[in-house]
Amino acid sequence: MPTRILGIESSCDETAAAVVADGREILSSVVASQMDIHRKYGGVVPELASREHLRQIVPVVREALSQAKLSFADLDAIGVTQGPGLIGSLLVGMTYGKVLALELGKPLVPVNHLEGHVHAVFLEAHLAGGAPELPAVCLIVSGGHTLLYYVEAAAPAFRFRRLGGTRDDAAGEAYDKVARLLALGYPGGPVIDQMAARAAATGRIANPEDALHFGPVKIKGNAYDFSFSGIKTAVLYYLRDHPEFNEEIELRREALRQGRRRAGDLIPLCGAQTLALICNFQSAVVNDLVTRTLAAAAETGARTILVSGGVAANSALRDTFQSKAAAKGAKVFFPSRALSTDNAAMIAAAAYAHLQAGDVATSDLNAEPNLRIA
Ligand code: KG4
Ligand code: ZN
Repeated sequence: MPTRILGIESSCDETAAAVVADGREILSSVVASQMDIHRKYGGVVPELASREHLRQIVPVVREALSQAKLSFADLDAIGVTQGPGLIGSLLVGMTYGKVLALELGKPLVPVNHLEGHVHAVFLEAHLAGGAPELPAVCLIVSGGHTLLYYVEAAAPAFRFRRLGGTRDDAAGEAYDKVARLLALGYPGGPVIDQMAARAAATGRIANPEDALHFGPVKIKGNAYDFSFSGIKTAVLYYLRDHPEFNEEIELRREALRQGRRRAGDLIPLCGAQTLALICNFQSAVVNDLVTRTLAAAAETGARTILVSGGVAANSALRDTFQSKAAAKGAKVFFPSRALSTDNAAMIAAAAYAHLQAGDVATSDLNAEPNLRIA
């Protein structure tokens, strides 16, 4: 009989539940996104997030069981995100998981959300019929995190060594903030990704040198740390110094108010300079992420690179990693777009490894907003 684990994820703005068998086979994965709620504030509002998790947690878990064609009694364990994340959001999933485990008399397995993102890569690789070789360098890059780890096998789980992380904004946060400055909607990552690709394909961009362009990010000390707030501030000052952008920004705000928020709706409302700025911004972020990650792989001798988190869905990041890593003899693994962003299948997969290690929770388990993996 396979070991079937219900995973529960509520660390930020997605209420998610999934059932995974033996840490590999996804029987169901349900994600209720709160994007429509937070969109008008241009970012996640913690109080609204926890209230929405409360509304969603029961129907989302029911749906995950129903899609897996299982009942509560069929489950072997409950895996729940313990941290890091927003305390109010974490508490909803954690409390629900605790009560469920107690009621069912099944073990509760606490999971680090970041470790979940690493498992997402392995879930995907399993679907494709292979498994990434360890040791690896792992880049976790999302709206809340930009972290680099060295990952070793320590069966049944992993062992992590932190190599670096962002000193200010996360990469996804930079996408979201720049999108807000330019009135491109929320979240900024997917729309900037699509706009940059289409603009490059149609050749409608100004000479990149004429628009705002960004030099390499300079960091004193640890070469595997990141910093993205300077890029965002450069955009802010550039727009302040160039009031000629205001008119098109106002037009895009109006389009967003009317719900026209797709890349195809917004591109016609962007001048060639704006499109060049978007392309330059994306190149700056992508090149910085790829360069530091490849340097970390070279220094540690890891020949495998794992990339996970919401920004791992970015097509330019994927393409750049694939081509540059191949040239260095390293292999890069990404989850699918659905497994890149927050989901509960990755939590159930991580829980399976910890269950095997006998790493189960006691009744005093608490949510940990600043939980680390190394
Ligand atoms: O992992 P995630 O769902 O949530 C956390 O932040 O933990 O990631 C969401 C972030 C947002 O900042 C969003 O703008 C970014 O990931 N994102 C992207 C893309 N898709 C999502 N950034 C760049 N390109 C994308 N295609
Ligand atoms: Zn995440």
